[in-house]
Amino acid sequence: MAKEKDLLFQPFVLGDLALPNRILMAPLTRSRSKQPGDIPWELNAEYYAQRAGSGLIFSEATQVSPQGKGYVFTPGIYSDAQVQGWRKVTSAVHEAGGRIFLQLWHVGRISHPALQPGGAKPVAPSAIKPEGAKAYIGDRLGMVEIPEPRALETDEIPGVVAQFRQGAENARRAGFDGVEIHGANGYLLDQFIRSRSNRRDDMYGGSVENRLRFPLMVAEAVTQVWGRERTGMRVSPTGTFHDMHDDDPLETYGALAAKLNDLGLAYIEVVEDSFQGNEVEGRPEDVIRVIRDNFKGAYIANGNYSADEARQRIGDGLCDLVTFGRLFISNPDLPERFRRNAPLNEYDKDTFYGGDEHGYTDYPALEDQ
Ligand SMILES: Cc1cc2nc3c(=O)[nH]c(=O)nc-3n(C[C@H](O)[C@H](O)[C@H](O)COP(=O)(O)O)c2cc1C
Repeated sequence: MAKEKDLLFQPFVLGDLALPNRILMAPLTRSRSKQPGDIPWELNAEYYAQRAGSGLIFSEATQVSPQGKGYVFTPGIYSDAQVQGWRKVTSAVHEAGGRIFLQLWHVGRISHPALQPGGAKPVAPSAIKPEGAKAYIGDRLGMVEIPEPRALETDEIPGVVAQFRQGAENARRAGFDGVEIHGANGYLLDQFIRSRSNRRDDMYGGSVENRLRFPLMVAEAVTQVWGRERTGMRVSPTGTFHDMHDDDPLETYGALAAKLNDLGLAYIEVVEDSFQGNEVEGRPEDVIRVIRDNFKGAYIANGNYSADEARQRIGDGLCDLVTFGRLFISNPDLPERFRRNAPLNEYDKDTFYGGDEHGYTDYPALEDQ
């Protein structure tokens, strides 16, 4: 058989999972779970199955507990109904020939008492309000400012790790192929990792080693459930979304990559650039290099990639795989379009979050156009 010349279509073994191409679907919150109960349902199954041609699908961020919720209509993975709902999604994706990982999520301070059990304050490493960040708390109340969170007590932290472990176990019951731990974009793990949001003076704050302790406990708990071949972590070392900043990303992410390497995770997914805000122009090449040097598993790149840039950087050894976000929203058959160099559908930002099938399952595939 002729060797596939297009690098995007060279197969790849991620952990122990064979992927037919390098064009992966990024995790994308679409806020269309069934209410009440934040339950995945048939509409979500249809959407994901339409995108089964990607090498691997990462599900939208999925809260591991009621406390981990920060948006209306995002799905959970803590109730039996949610597990049953996700089974519909994973079955549909598998029947369509695809593979799907669940993104395990705790928002930390990016929430609002209106979304928290008992109207409690959202929790965080430290009681620091994310400047300028807003929460959407429903049709009636709309966007509101996020208040100052409550710092987690030292002895509460193992309980939050347990939420992730339970989420990982539930993801197995729901028929996923693996899990991605959400350590990016200013949510709870990222809040611990980076210096601006973590001002703790206990064993979970201060030094880099301490700031990484909780995220590494989560990674260890999840790998105990899934095995290291089926576990990865997403990070955003220079992302500014949700008022995030780290004083020394080279040191922080070099250390994190080395620790995740010791745990033997299958991959790290790096949000290198984002429309949601980045501290550097373009990609942080020095941070990318330090992660690549310290981590021997797969490196998945994300952020403003075109097919050609993905080919280029895979060819240059800067990444192994690429996730595409917005392009997968509007192009269910994105790999096929890349293969044929076909035109792409434009995405409509107004239908990113919430609503019905419009802007969700009604983007046409090539064969329907
Ligand atoms: C509508 C929308 C929802 C998103 N939801 C998530 C999410 O649930 N989890 C996550 O890690 N990133 C999320 N992101 C970020 C994307 O995964 C990705 O990092 C970003 O879109 C940049 O990649 P792109 O240029 O290929 O779109 C979201 C982005 C968009 C546009």
